[in-house]
Amino acid sequence: MPPTWEMTEEEIRARRVPVDEQRVLDVRHMTRQFGGLLAVSNVSFVVEKGEIFGLIGPNGAGKTTLFNLITGLIQPTSGQLYFRGEEYTGQRPHYIAQKGIARTFQNIRLFGSLSALENVKIARHTHTFGGIFGLIAGVLNLPPAPEDERKTTARAMELLEMVGLAERAHVQARNFAYGDQRRLEIARALALEPRLLLLDEPAAGMNAQEKQGLSDFIRMLRDKFSITILLIEHHVPLVMGLCDRIAVLDFGQLIALGDPRRVQHDPAVIEAYLGDEG
Ligand SMILES: Nc1ncnc2c1ncn2[C@@H]1O[C@H](COP(=O)(O)OP(=O)(O)OP(=O)(O)O)[C@@H](O)[C@H]1O
Ligand SMILES: [Mg+2]
Repeated sequence: MPPTWEMTEEEIRARRVPVDEQRVLDVRHMTRQFGGLLAVSNVSFVVEKGEIFGLIGPNGAGKTTLFNLITGLIQPTSGQLYFRGEEYTGQRPHYIAQKGIARTFQNIRLFGSLSALENVKIARHTHTFGGIFGLIAGVLNLPPAPEDERKTTARAMELLEMVGLAERAHVQARNFAYGDQRRLEIARALALEPRLLLLDEPAAGMNAQEKQGLSDFIRMLRDKFSITILLIEHHVPLVMGLCDRIAVLDFGQLIALGDPRRVQHDPAVIEAYLGDEG
């Protein structure tokens, strides 16, 4: 229940959920059924502040479905989600993004006919002019003030610079190579200034050198910008070298969780991957 006008300030304060900086994401008993299929089954784990947390598992294990649950794209059959100590189960994607959880998609979702810069600026506008003012401005079709527009462009350019695409800011997104589109998606997610960034197979379609660059970039996001990272990735060397902890899904269930070396040698994990190849 939201606070009401009748409540005293003390009562409102007492009901405020204390922010738990350390537990950035708390997934509890997350379950999602599609008809008879348990795509995600009773999955629980906590992602701590400043972690690079890997999510791996064979094809169809439920990784993307779990991302869709965490970002509110689909709703859980049961289970709860907490962001920095506050429950947000059942909230819509826009609210969750505003709170500080951004993501990229396994199937890239860029506006192909728009430039790289425009793609980032659109996300930035949602962030800057979100809430009721953004909504009213949007409905009335009001252009943003020139000063805001300048700031938005400058910030978007900074983000493109960060991912190494600044020189091609005015090129249409559809003309970018696959690996560059993935980097553009990351820039767009960063425009929301997230505390938690979810990356769904960011290295897919990248060559070895690009993968190394991506790995360094993700570490820099954590070290320099204090962004906590949750990462789905198939490329094992990248996961092993980058992640502090790893969770393994198989047929929707969490079968292992821990530091990379231990998980790599876990018999249940080896079994799951051998089964995948057989
Ligand atoms: N909207 C949906 N409706 C029905 N079934 C779905 C839906 N989304 C996912 N599934 C099913 O749920 C299971 C998990 O799919 P998901 O995409 O989460 O796997 P994944 O671990 O991301 O796999 P991959 O590594 O191939 O990306 C699969 O069997 C998939 O077919
Ligand atoms: Mg997937």
